[in-house]
Amino acid sequence: MRFIDKTLFPSDITPKTVFENRRSLIKAAAAGSFGAALAPWFSREALAATPEKLSATLNSAYSLKEETTPYKYVTTYNNFYEFGTDKADPAANAGSLQTRPWTISIEGLVKKPITLDIDALLKLAPMEERIYRMRCVEGWSMVIPWDGYPLSKLINKVEPLGSAKYVEFISLADRKQMPGLSSNVIDWPYREGLRMDEAMNPLTLLTFGLYGEVLPKQNGAPVRIVVPWKYGFKSAKSIVKIRFTEEMPKTSWNMFDAREYGFYSNVNPQVDHPRWSQATERRIGDAKGVFAPKIKTQMFNGYGDQVASMYAGMDLKKYY
Ligand code: MTE
Repeated sequence: MRFIDKTLFPSDITPKTVFENRRSLIKAAAAGSFGAALAPWFSREALAATPEKLSATLNSAYSLKEETTPYKYVTTYNNFYEFGTDKADPAANAGSLQTRPWTISIEGLVKKPITLDIDALLKLAPMEERIYRMRCVEGWSMVIPWDGYPLSKLINKVEPLGSAKYVEFISLADRKQMPGLSSNVIDWPYREGLRMDEAMNPLTLLTFGLYGEVLPKQNGAPVRIVVPWKYGFKSAKSIVKIRFTEEMPKTSWNMFDAREYGFYSNVNPQVDHPRWSQATERRIGDAKGVFAPKIKTQMFNGYGDQVASMYAGMDLKKYY
């Protein structure tokens, strides 16, 4: 994985209040409170640029009370190698991704395998908004309001067999839609995996949106996984297949370099990446840009209360 960093200038920052004003204006507009007479600046700039809403209820029990990362950074600085390896590539190139029609098949060691249309999947359980801290293996972090529901709701529907020990997530790989596939940096399709108890953990979110709007394509539309106590690369995007297996599945970054990217990849400030420390992180969107003070990375990204028991007795240096 390339370690690409860009200087962020204070003038780039969308203050949270501005974003929130935009958000509440958009909500009011969606609810019809502005009637037909939208202010011209609002209709032209804000509304035209705004994707479809997702109505989700904030789940405060699973939400941080931290400043959220401006929408602009969440949607323009990320990794989605199917659209290029630079942080700006996904936002620039993901327009070619077709998110409808979209089906996702759930298969492998389950009693009730199923192929679901994305719109049926969206309705499977009530949509929640959860504000999660996300830590990238490269040393930066963001705080993001995600919209989705626990993956466990889908898992319960297909009734895994007792022999199912792992869950594998497979992303779309279509050369016609994804220019990054012409490079073989990854052995496509992108794939990730979780142990069954990790997949069933209430924090693991099957995600359809962020900031109350459907996922922008560059963030993994129409459906992705979010696993906030693991490094960001464990969160597979644009998923077309979920498979239940007995064997630990092969994962893209582990196949790329097993020394650098382990299967578990739990955020752990005590276990360094072979090429850099994981003890601190830099919050993207901080007004001081690269001069922002580094903050201490927390064990399990701060989610130890909810997840540490799953790893009791495990050597987390060996199983990194
Ligand atoms: N999923 C697919 N299909 N392809 C990718 O290249 N990159 C991963 C992960 N999921 C990736 C992917 C990595 S390295 C990161 S850090 C996160 O997506 C970043 O996505 P986000 O910032 O939009 O959450």
